Formats: sequence, structure tokens, C-alpha cells
Amino acid sequence: MQKVYLDNAATTQVRDEVIAKMQEALANCYGNPSSTHSFGRSAKTAVEKTRKTIAKILNALPSEIIFTSGGTEADNMILRCAVRDLGVKTIITSKIEHHAVLHTAEELEKEYNISLRFVDLDENGNPKIEHLKKLLDSDDSKKLVSLMHVNNEIGNIIDIQAIGELCKENGALFHSDTVQSVGHYPWDVQNTPIDFFTAAAHKFHGPKGIGFAFIRKNSGLKPMIFGGSQERGYRAGTEPFHNIVGLEEAFVQAYDNLDEEIRFTKELKRYFVEKIKQEIPDVCFNGLSEDLDKSTYTLANVRLPFDKQKALMLLFHLDIKGIACSKGSACQSGSNMGSHVLNEILSGEELDKPSLRFSFSMYNTKEEIDYTIGVLKEFAES
Ligand SMILES: Cc1ncc(COP(=O)(O)O)c(C=O)c1O
Repeated sequence: MQKVYLDNAATTQVRDEVIAKMQEALANCYGNPSSTHSFGRSAKTAVEKTRKTIAKILNALPSEIIFTSGGTEADNMILRCAVRDLGVKTIITSKIEHHAVLHTAEELEKEYNISLRFVDLDENGNPKIEHLKKLLDSDDSKKLVSLMHVNNEIGNIIDIQAIGELCKENGALFHSDTVQSVGHYPWDVQNTPIDFFTAAAHKFHGPKGIGFAFIRKNSGLKPMIFGGSQERGYRAGTEPFHNIVGLEEAFVQAYDNLDEEIRFTKELKRYFVEKIKQEIPDVCFNGLSEDLDKSTYTLANVRLPFDKQKALMLLFHLDIKGIACSKGSACQSGSNMGSHVLNEILSGEELDKPSLRFSFSMYNTKEEIDYTIGVLKEFAES
């Protein structure tokens, strides 16, 4: 049976070059980076080399890169430590953030009695800048704004430069969950008004369980995890050396091949969008995901003109046909949880239709898209 993986926003296939580097590290470089003997020293050297490589590509300082277990930990660390250490009394975020941010902010509201404010969204799911200005200006409390660069469900891209500048003008800290952006878009932190952001290697063809937090120099954040002095005391725990090496390789490959990957994957998405509109004319796109410039080239979130009964069978049917994608709303899954992102931006009637997120990578082909849309069309007509 043909297998088609179109769930790259959930996680990506690991590159062969990454696997090779990780295997080599696991087999030959098993020293503890904190040990002072040669085994440990060579592991430590490689960890620091990775930090320098990443920092160079981002135009950051090596000391501004803290390895974590991934995006969730990095988001938790930054939000939590900003409230605990920097006197943040108000977090301004949006209701369509990833749960790594949303649930952390809700928890901090309870634990620290801070104020949690949500910026209004326009009909496409983008934050309303005028409302953000109002929130920033509402009182004198120390504020942290947390708005994701690329939304993982609908793909919308926010204007990180404009929002960062607005935060700066208002004396607010700015964090962005950039888990769907790092490895897919160029970054230059010297020219981006941002205090903190996060990354996860498994979103750009690296291993799971490794990522990093960018924490700008002199931020004043203190450790969240206590123990040894790894990561300059910021994040204790023996470094997962093989994962760090895998992160480095995935990162280097992503940025060495960025232009080509953007060109290729954007073309795939363009093809998907055109083809699905041709074959299923009543299809709709959620958020800005039809727009090749205002949303990420890595995903499209479609709402299909199927009734409830059909919707229930949709994901199951795709799975049977070997196609992997993500559901975008509850209706077809039988659960009543639904997507908090779509629940926020769609009407009740729109939510009754099944939504699916298809997400692309350089490993996909136009033939796979033809097959997928063929299966959807056949299902529509059945
Ligand atoms: C936008 C966003 N933030 C955070 C995360 C969590 O990252 P991780 O799986 O590395 O913890 C994800 C992963 O799905 C994501 O898409």
C-alpha cells in the first residue's frame, strides 16, 4: 500500500545525515560531557561546538543558546522564569497559541496570581495590533508578550518585527514560540527585537527530545531545573550528547539548504492548494493557510464540504489509504475536545465541517499530493 506522510507539522522524518551523526555519537562518544577525562572532554567540546554553530547561524551569542528537551520545555522555562525572576505581572498572549504556552500561562496565573490577557484576533486569526497596543498601555505592570511566529495549526505568520518593536516601545518583554519557524525561516537575532524564543529539532528533520531556548544576554533569568552545572547552571542534567549532535546536523542542513527547501516545499503547497480547489471546488482554507506569503509554506489547513456522517469516517478512511495528516477539528474524530485554534476562529457552522491539516516537507512529492487529493475526491463522491 502507498504510504504518504503529510503530517510534518507534528514531526518530521529524520535526515539520513542526522541519523549517521547520531549513530556515530552513540557508538563512539559516550563520555559524560561533565567528566574531566578525555572521553568527557571530547563530548563537552562537541556540545559547545553545536552551541557555537547554532549561535552563528542565528547571529546570536553561544551563551544565549540553552539546550532543552524540546519546544515545550523551552516555552515553560521562559514563561515561568520570566514571572518568577523578572517581576512579570501580566502575560499577554493569544487564545490560539500552542498549549505549551497557553497551559503554562494559565498555570502561572493561578500560581503567581498574575494577570493573563488575550489579544483579540481578526477573522483570519491574526492578532489585532490596535488591541495589543491597548493591552500594553493598560497599566504600569511589568508585561511579557508571548505570540507565536508561525501557528502550528493554521500556518499564519505574524509580523514578528512589528510586534517586537511595539513591545520594546512599551517596555514589555517579548517571547515567541518559534517551534514551527526555526529551521524553516532565516533568523538574525541581532536585528530582531525579541527577548526569548524556542526551537525543537524534530520539526526540521532532527531527533525528538532536543531543542533550545534563545535567551538574550543579561536577561536576568535564573535556572528552572536545579542540579549539576550543565548549561552554565541554567538547565541541570547530563546532556543528551547524541541528540545535541543530531540537532546540530539538522540545523546546519536546514540552513545550508534553506532557499532550495523553501522553493521546493512552497511549490508543493501551491500545487496542493490549486489541485484541491480544482477537484473539490467547495473546499475552504482555515486561517490564512491558502495564502503562500501570509502563511507558512509547510502547511495548509482545509475545511471540507462533507456532512457530519462522512466527517466521522474521514481520518479513518485516509489512514486506511496510507495517508497521514492531522485532524483540524473535533467533529470527525468522535472526541469533543476539538482544536482550540479552530474553535477560536471558526463559526459553529464552519466547525461542523471536517478540517484537516496537511503539512509538507522536502520528502514529499507531487505524486503523493495527486494520490491524496484523489483519495479525498473519491471519498467526497462515495
Ligand atoms: C508551535 C509549537 N510549540 C511547541 C511545540 C512543542 O514542542 P515539543 O514537541 O518539542 O515539546 C510544538 C510541537 O508540536 C509546536 O508546534
